[in-house]
Amino acid sequence: MSFTRFLTGITTSGTPHLGNYVGSIRPSVRASLAPDVESYYFLADYHALIKVDEPARIQRSTLEIAASWLAAGLDPERVTFYRQSDVPEIPELTWLLTCVTGKGVLNRAHAYKAAVDKNTATEQDPDMDVTAGLFMYPVLMGADILMFNAHKVPVGRDQIQHIEMARDMANSFNHRYGDHFVPPQAVIEESVATLPGLDGRKMSKSYDNTIPLFAPREQLKKLIAGIKTDSRIPGEPKDTEGSALFQIFQAFASEDESRTLRQSYADGIAWGDAKQVLFERIDREIAPMRETYLSLINNPAKIEAILMAGAAKARNRATPFMTELRHAVGLRRLGDMASTAPQKVAKSALPSFKQYREADGKFRFKLVDAQGQLLLQSLGFSSPKEAGQAIAELQRDGALALTRLAAQLEPLAVDADTVGAALTLLATGT
Ligand code: TRP
Repeated sequence: MSFTRFLTGITTSGTPHLGNYVGSIRPSVRASLAPDVESYYFLADYHALIKVDEPARIQRSTLEIAASWLAAGLDPERVTFYRQSDVPEIPELTWLLTCVTGKGVLNRAHAYKAAVDKNTATEQDPDMDVTAGLFMYPVLMGADILMFNAHKVPVGRDQIQHIEMARDMANSFNHRYGDHFVPPQAVIEESVATLPGLDGRKMSKSYDNTIPLFAPREQLKKLIAGIKTDSRIPGEPKDTEGSALFQIFQAFASEDESRTLRQSYADGIAWGDAKQVLFERIDREIAPMRETYLSLINNPAKIEAILMAGAAKARNRATPFMTELRHAVGLRRLGDMASTAPQKVAKSALPSFKQYREADGKFRFKLVDAQGQLLLQSLGFSSPKEAGQAIAELQRDGALALTRLAAQLEPLAVDADTVGAALTLLATGT
């Protein structure tokens, strides 16, 4: 059976809000329940250091995000649920990836570029207040993903560029050191970008327009009462188009429920009543989780134990993989000096000989390049030994053997230089 590995992280820099829930927590918990998936969910606390220099806030946020995920139904037995900073292999891998990542690529990363553009616009030093942490952020994220060779990474649109960079890192590492990484793919959560906040703009901490996911009932009610609406009076038909209230409702409601509210809008429902409908709908989904959340948040030791177990599970994979990667790049024990041999080319990048027997009972071989394209085809030999000898001559003498063996070969499918180059690569690459 083959598994698709999903991986996603949430930066521990604040209190989870409804936007995080709808866009990330809820879909990732659902995805984790599908058959044939293996999921990795983590608290990105190293990432938090890039934005937050209040230690207590990072600790609190770690607790709140972990409790939110668990309250929303994430099953730590079923998935691998861990805190980034408990897996020291991640910063270690960050360095290996740093060394295969072009600086120019990082110059173009959105978050860094935005900071530089802002400084330039105000005629400041371009790098004013820009830490190397912000600059390196895509590499840390690449390490998060490649550490577990995740196939799919559910993210918001703003993160697509980072996933593409992680693909590039995987490819350049593989190219230099052999196939170790799976280039990951972004899975776009359309709803992430669309949950509006109190003021109608995207719900986001930076706009200060959020509704905390586990706000107590009374506070939730009050916040919802503050959602921006237009000035239409009760009885006047209302527009669902562009209504933040309606969009938030849709993120929680069934199609039937949405249709009903749409009708109420058309019938001129008072904004106060519409807000009451929204409040009841959200609370219906959140209330049972809120109970769990409160009991978890009051028992940090329990969450800590879950995270420690998760870290052990994550490291079961990360530690041996890191050993493999260290060896691949040449961070090796000195007992085994095989490493002085010429640099290895990735096996998958090499041409290869294939031997086979055909229906006529004859033994043949062919040489194909890394993409499987035919370079050389032999005629039939009466024994596998003779075919093997011809291959040995080609391996030893390269292009020189071509003329000598001409009588045993089909006319060349490509020019002799190409075949010669392939034979040389084969001889020096392994
Ligand atoms: N950078 C992501 C964000 O700000 C969080 C994150 C860190 C992440 N590492 C990741 C997401 C790896 C997916 C995969 O939203």
